[in-house]
Amino acid sequence: MKENDTMEKIVSLAKRRGFIYQGSEIYGGLAGTWDYGPLGVELKNNITQNWWDTFVKKKEDIFGVDSSILMNSKVWEASGHVDGFHDPMIEDVKNHKRYRADHILEENGVENTDDMSVEEMDAKIKELGLKSPSGNEFGSVQQFNMMLKTELGAVESTASTVYLRPETAQGIFTNYKNVLDSIHPKLPFGIAQIGKAFRNEITPRDFIFRVRELEQMEIQFFIHPDDQESAYENWKKNAWDWLTSIGLEEKDMKWHDHTEKERAHYASVATDINFNFPHGSKELHGIHNRTDFDLSAHAKKSGANLEYFNQETGEKFIPYVIESSVGVGRTVLAVLSGAYTEDEMDGETRVYLKLSPNIAPVKVAVFPLLKNKPELVAKAREVFDEIKKVIPNAMFDDNGNIGKRYRRQDEIGTPKCVTIDFDTLEDDTVTVRDRDSGKQERVKIEELKSLI
Ligand code: GAP
Repeated sequence: MKENDTMEKIVSLAKRRGFIYQGSEIYGGLAGTWDYGPLGVELKNNITQNWWDTFVKKKEDIFGVDSSILMNSKVWEASGHVDGFHDPMIEDVKNHKRYRADHILEENGVENTDDMSVEEMDAKIKELGLKSPSGNEFGSVQQFNMMLKTELGAVESTASTVYLRPETAQGIFTNYKNVLDSIHPKLPFGIAQIGKAFRNEITPRDFIFRVRELEQMEIQFFIHPDDQESAYENWKKNAWDWLTSIGLEEKDMKWHDHTEKERAHYASVATDINFNFPHGSKELHGIHNRTDFDLSAHAKKSGANLEYFNQETGEKFIPYVIESSVGVGRTVLAVLSGAYTEDEMDGETRVYLKLSPNIAPVKVAVFPLLKNKPELVAKAREVFDEIKKVIPNAMFDDNGNIGKRYRRQDEIGTPKCVTIDFDTLEDDTVTVRDRDSGKQERVKIEELKSLI
């Protein structure tokens, strides 16, 4: 378990080094929104690109889509989100501040709140005599719908109300028939999407863990109902393997199977991969068996025929769906908290991000040993330009002394630093320093690209 102040250290490093800033910061922020800075956007893009390569580009049976955030409201009526996408909310009767009832109970030592109904939560809060953080009485626990609404067009009316999608999944279900009719895949096949989703979280908190504007990477894998168990197990394994492939350690990950009360309204079975975040072991990645719930609901509401026809057997049926869903921001936070390391180097405490090289925002930094020697700077620029042709995420740095540059690169997780010195001018060798061990080796310039 990490120390309690690890989250604060990560938030501070993220801001100091240009990974993540508070949204609308100069106006005091906007709760539940965060902005990615120059290094954060590289880290985030490396993660989403790695996911897309793994699950779309390298697969023959998964196809990508990029659907609209705004969808016809009937989508959310059919999917059950208008009626069933809510969190338990409780309000301070005096100042009207709102809280998640389950979070209030958990903070007061009540376990397994996922299994409690709204009435049970209400009774427990009353039984324990819990007061709001401001010391006032609470009202009753109510269900609070988390979908964000907006208006389309110039005339305000209920007919113009649309929702910002709370999950990217529905943009996949509504395009299932389009993909089937245009690409003609055979079952089983998947449709993947990366995109923004919005949730009116009652209490956004824990940095980028619980936000109101989030990004998801989701796959709906369409299968024959007979294959649901094997496909579910397969997608559990795929999710676990992908998270470890980007550097998360198995010791920080564990399965959490959902109980019946905990499951989302669309799932017959669900499990999460929980990650050991600085604020506890919490949901990072979800795997759900959504059965034919969504496609059947859309077929009924829209009148579209969403059956799959197996030409070989003549069978017609609505496919079942195994869903793989993971938040981009939560993955970034898991990666940052798993990588955050403090050790002793040269008699000083050092902070470094032990990021996997496949997602590190900067893969290699190139320095001239001294900034005021034009011949060293020119040679360093030459080496840098060559490296950058094949490794675009390379950085040139000649600020401050060499020790400071190493510390700076350590803090942003750069796996290798290359230093050009006077020997380089004689024999075309450079010093390559490894981030984790701090060890340095002498390498020929021509060997650099393959080494990095
Ligand atoms: N389509 C299924 C679905 O949306 P979910 O468990 O509600 O399922 C999937 O969300 C993933 O999205 C979560 O495992 C988490 O990584 C991420 N996520 C959900 N709500 C979030 C929030 N408020 N802030 C950040 N990430 C969130």
